[in-house]
Amino acid sequence: MAETPSVIVVDHPLIRHKLTRLRDRTTPTAEFRVLMKQVGALLAVEATRHLPVSEITVETPLATTKGWCLDPIPAVIPILRAGLGLADGVLELLPESDIGHLGMYRDEKTVRPVPYLERLPLNLDSRGIVVVDPMLATGHSAAHALDLLFSKGARREATVLMVLVAAPEGVAEINRLFPEVRIVAAALDERLNEKSYIVPGLGDAGDRLYGTP
Ligand code: URA
Repeated sequence: MAETPSVIVVDHPLIRHKLTRLRDRTTPTAEFRVLMKQVGALLAVEATRHLPVSEITVETPLATTKGWCLDPIPAVIPILRAGLGLADGVLELLPESDIGHLGMYRDEKTVRPVPYLERLPLNLDSRGIVVVDPMLATGHSAAHALDLLFSKGARREATVLMVLVAAPEGVAEINRLFPEVRIVAAALDERLNEKSYIVPGLGDAGDRLYGTP
């Protein structure tokens, strides 16, 4: 695990392999979807590292022993559209989670997020929160999502931003605005281009996930 003060890059051979297939422009949509979900599950292991657990007892076939259960169950908040693909992997591991949806699209001129949907679970103030967005580019969408969640009571230190690919610019923006929020990523890329796409990146994650032009 390569950890810097600002972003945790989960450096694992499976993630490297699958991320390379996701980057490949010739990878078809069907495979892209499967890979996105698989990497979502792999990243979730690190993203959920700090979730609180309660001690319980459990009866095995042989004895009574000590065990643990997640307490409280976290909320998973994908940023639509592309966050849905990565969140599917998180939900494989955390099927009990409540799911919040934050819909926003990027205005291509201003590269600012335009919100169109907000549907959040209750009790944001008392549980861990995993915000899921594959591409941390300028950081504007993630910042908008985090701002909204904190205004509804979510705790900064209990919130993690899980992304597939991060740009240094996006990491810097989230670090600046929300230094308590952990960022977990599969890769930290080189830079943004003039259209605020991540280079080398993987293109438009939503378009590749859903097969739209
Ligand atoms: N959103 C994407 O889907 N890709 C990028 O490179 C940047 C933002």
